[in-house]
Amino acid sequence: MDYFRRTRVKEIISGQKADQKVIILGWARTKRLSKNVGFIEINDGSSLHNAQLVFSPPGDFPELERIITGTSLRVVGKVVKVEGREQAYEVHAEELEIVGECSQDYPLQKKRHTFEFLREIAHLRPRTNTFGVINRFRSKLSHCIHEYYQQRGFYYIHTPIITTSDCEGAGDLFQVTTLPLKELAEKKTELDMDKDFFAEKAYLTVSGQLEGELMCTALGDIYTFGPTFRAEKSYTSRHLSEFWMMEPEMAFCDLDEMIILIEDFLKHLISYSIEQCEEEMAFFNQWIDKGRQKVLQSIVESDFAKITYTEAVDILKKSKRNFEFPVGWGLDLQSEHERFLSEEYFKKPVFVTDYPRDIKAFYMRVNEDEKTVRAVDVLVPLVGEIVGGSQREERYDYLRKNMVQQGMDIEEYQWFLDIRKYGTVPHSGFGLGFERMLMYLSGMTNIRDVMPFPRFPRSAKF
Ligand code: 4AD
Ligand code: MG
Repeated sequence: MDYFRRTRVKEIISGQKADQKVIILGWARTKRLSKNVGFIEINDGSSLHNAQLVFSPPGDFPELERIITGTSLRVVGKVVKVEGREQAYEVHAEELEIVGECSQDYPLQKKRHTFEFLREIAHLRPRTNTFGVINRFRSKLSHCIHEYYQQRGFYYIHTPIITTSDCEGAGDLFQVTTLPLKELAEKKTELDMDKDFFAEKAYLTVSGQLEGELMCTALGDIYTFGPTFRAEKSYTSRHLSEFWMMEPEMAFCDLDEMIILIEDFLKHLISYSIEQCEEEMAFFNQWIDKGRQKVLQSIVESDFAKITYTEAVDILKKSKRNFEFPVGWGLDLQSEHERFLSEEYFKKPVFVTDYPRDIKAFYMRVNEDEKTVRAVDVLVPLVGEIVGGSQREERYDYLRKNMVQQGMDIEEYQWFLDIRKYGTVPHSGFGLGFERMLMYLSGMTNIRDVMPFPRFPRSAKF
């Protein structure tokens, strides 16, 4: 093929190749044929926008007849500037070759399809405008995350995907096993873990945090960014069974210092989207959520709100709202409460700190009141909780006591306690749900539409 010689559509429409001869490899989006001239819009995935190919006279290109939406093509032509038209550059074709025919029953036609329909043909939806934009945006934002932390001296750590620990203690674990389950069930035998692959119970990780904590006591500042897995039976538009989380962990950093970093980081992701992802933001602003860009711009320019959990409960109680779930000190905040706080009360992102220890994980640092922990969640309009984190319990005795109270097997987690035994330091970290951040930035309202291959209960296609 001409893989190394071809020009991407993106370069053509940006005018970088004016008056030059180019080779384009891509897929036909639309075709218009008349007696004197033929037009094809071609897309190669490099941009939301297509390049316009002009065939004149069409009779010189007999293949034109067989081309429909979806046909893959190789085209050679000259890039020409067109005055006074929306599309500033077009390609006057000289050669046309069909690389792959497209069957007539191709479900993606030039019209708007609903997101529900596109979820049913999830193997083809990446070819639509919306999903092309989202997938390019995902890629760019991933890059931005790496760049942000690398520039600040953090090291990227690959924490294990298969793990024997349960970071969040919520029990939402997918077990990994090679035991012959069917055979064992038929024989009605007890499971013998010693016969399993790792000779102990192993799971898909819910978070890279515990290993991240270990690494930060060696390298100072680290981050992880990878897939995490939760077997929650949640069918909501904000939960996936497999999602990507980015988790930094900082040694010698307390909660207040981390909160400064979180705000700077989230604002950086917003600014980057506005400045470096113009095509994507313009698309979201026009087709997904009108005014999105203005909202985001105003977030960058103002300070996030910051309250304690106790203050949050007071606000919710005073709101006189009829919430579906009860509000009271000691109860976890539900999505409706989180959205009320960020969407209606503060109308911007809000930090909520110092949650009751009983509703948070074992590793969070206990406050002097012994009732609350140094936890922080970030709640944003539209999505709710986007970040969860804390200052960690760095005191050996406190941590051990907490673990015993929560019924954890101390021996199994001795390695985690050892960090506190050998040169312990105050340290903090958080997790950003990558898909939830994408929802917030784009205005997309269903998390299944910002993940290329979403997994949720009863669905793990591909
Ligand atoms: O609040 P979570 O459970 O925190 C942790 O896992 C900590 N170990 C992170 C840390 O301190 N290093 O999850 C963090 C974030 C949430 O705020 C949310 O944005 C996202 O991960 N998240 C999910 N996103 C999609 N689907 C799910 N089922 C999610 N569960 C959590
Ligand atoms: Mg959380």
